[in-house]
Amino acid sequence: LPLLPREKGWITTSIYQYQGFWYSPQILSSVLACQDHFQAQDTDVLLITAPKSGTTWLKAILFCILNRAELSGSMQHHPLLTQSPHNLVPFLESQLYLEQEIPNLASFASPRLFATHLPYHLFPTSVKDSGCKLVYLCRNPKDTFVSFWHFANKMRSKGTGEMPLEECLDAFCRGTSPFGPYWDHVQGYYKASSEMPERVLFLRYEDLKEDPHVHVKRLADFLGCPLGKQELMDGTVDGILRMCSFDSLKALEVNKSGELSTGIETNWFFRKGEVGDWLNYISVEMGERIDRVMQEKMHGSGLKL
Ligand code: A3P
Repeated sequence: LPLLPREKGWITTSIYQYQGFWYSPQILSSVLACQDHFQAQDTDVLLITAPKSGTTWLKAILFCILNRAELSGSMQHHPLLTQSPHNLVPFLESQLYLEQEIPNLASFASPRLFATHLPYHLFPTSVKDSGCKLVYLCRNPKDTFVSFWHFANKMRSKGTGEMPLEECLDAFCRGTSPFGPYWDHVQGYYKASSEMPERVLFLRYEDLKEDPHVHVKRLADFLGCPLGKQELMDGTVDGILRMCSFDSLKALEVNKSGELSTGIETNWFFRKGEVGDWLNYISVEMGERIDRVMQEKMHGSGLKL
């Protein structure tokens, strides 16, 4: 597929399968562009998620961790106050999709920090062969599903009308939602993290919520920029977590009324940010259906979501 022009839209009802995963036509063209053109560098950090797993939050946290030396002492000029986490940490897919010419990603300052929803086995070999670090964030599939349903309806509000909950659930459980099957997406990275723990860190949204301090330190260690003694005492971690908290980010003008170059409104990324909100939207039976599919598909993987 050629790179498709933006006007053809993210809002689409068609979905295509490629190498075991499902994509809208625009995303598929950028996935292919990623495979062909993305050259990983040893210093790269890639944040990977299935859609609606908490990408925005972890983008902000990783940006703060990696740039904290330059940003210390100038909190009032912090880039997150005026720029969306999605602009500071671009998706590889949208970089390659929005440009009609392949952008020069090599010109980004090192360490480059990108996010992606790409399944593990679709990465170009340079990702696997280089020393770059991968951070994977997964989330309880029921919350992920509900979050996705809301997001899909926001996108459709620009064109194709609301997606019935049952229809969306059906697609999720069949594995045909964008970047699905969800269980294969998660398992690909879980396996990679067991095989290469020094290169792939596997995190859960719920753990990040429960003990964010521990995870900021863990991330800094993993990325090779551990917090120093002084930082551990001077409130650096508290500062990062305050800056990246749901309430702080959601309240910022840029995240309330901004629009990304993809046409997506920035406020769509900040809905509730809670664990267990699925209970307010899907029936117990629907929840059990998701549980059954996950148990069946992840049987023997050692991973429970
Ligand atoms: P909900 O729809 O359940 O509220 P992604 O960033 O991968 O698109 O995921 C979006 C989900 O992460 C949304 O979940 C959103 O509210 C939540 N989220 C965004 N920012 C967050 C933050 N700072 N802390 C916790 N959750 C956040």
